[in-house]
Amino acid sequence: MDVIEAIKQRKSIRGYKAEAVPKEVLEEILRVATRAPSGMNTQPWEITVIAGEVMEQIKMGNLVKFGAGERPQREVVRGQYEGIFRERQVALAVQLFQLMGIAREDREKRVDWMQRGFRFFDAPAAIILSMDKSVGPGGQFDIGALCQTIALAALNHGLGTCIMDQGVMYQDVTRKFTGIPEDRLIVICMTIGYPDWDFPANKIYSEREPIESITTWLGV
Ligand SMILES: Cc1cc2nc3c(=O)[nH]c(=O)nc-3n(C[C@H](O)[C@H](O)[C@H](O)COP(=O)(O)O)c2cc1C
Repeated sequence: MDVIEAIKQRKSIRGYKAEAVPKEVLEEILRVATRAPSGMNTQPWEITVIAGEVMEQIKMGNLVKFGAGERPQREVVRGQYEGIFRERQVALAVQLFQLMGIAREDREKRVDWMQRGFRFFDAPAAIILSMDKSVGPGGQFDIGALCQTIALAALNHGLGTCIMDQGVMYQDVTRKFTGIPEDRLIVICMTIGYPDWDFPANKIYSEREPIESITTWLGV
């Protein structure tokens, strides 16, 4: 697939077919995607692929904690979005909820949507990306580059992905069932599978700022 076409086509997929992704396909994607750049070629990423029984255990663990109203315990912290960032966050939620037919006051459907996230959007597999904490915050940049490269490589196999915090938000659950030790920072995860194009949320095409409002040209 042409690289520009792949960049344009990639979008977050939040509904999947049940069909499993062959291990060889996942291996091929990871082999090529780890050509992603990293600071000083440190390659700080550690990759844990989950499916089947382990994934079910993590889903269940997430749902139990969510159901009990337990606060997520993420070490990768994001601020409370304000101003334009909050506006973009809300715009995305409005777009997704409209597609899914979730009314603002419909608490049950909103909870249902949250649960889907904690179930990795019912994808057949997910990729958890972690790194040795000694690498420091800069390593998260490297893992970001890997994420996008995985997402693009996956398209070549007809697969969709969604980079997502939610699946690894209850870190003790993730650690318990994957064995990822405390000295590793769980940075992010990605769902991966064959897109269900009938799933309403997959019709999303999210907005972007025009480059004119975010770019400063100097000496050009
Ligand atoms: C670091 C990161 C964390 C994300 N976490 C979630 C998540 O928990 N749930 C979700 O539905 N989407 C999540 N996303 C997907 C974003 O919402 C999505 O990338 C953004 O809205 C742009 O849409 P697009 O990927 O379809 O282009 C995450 C994306 C990134 C990069």
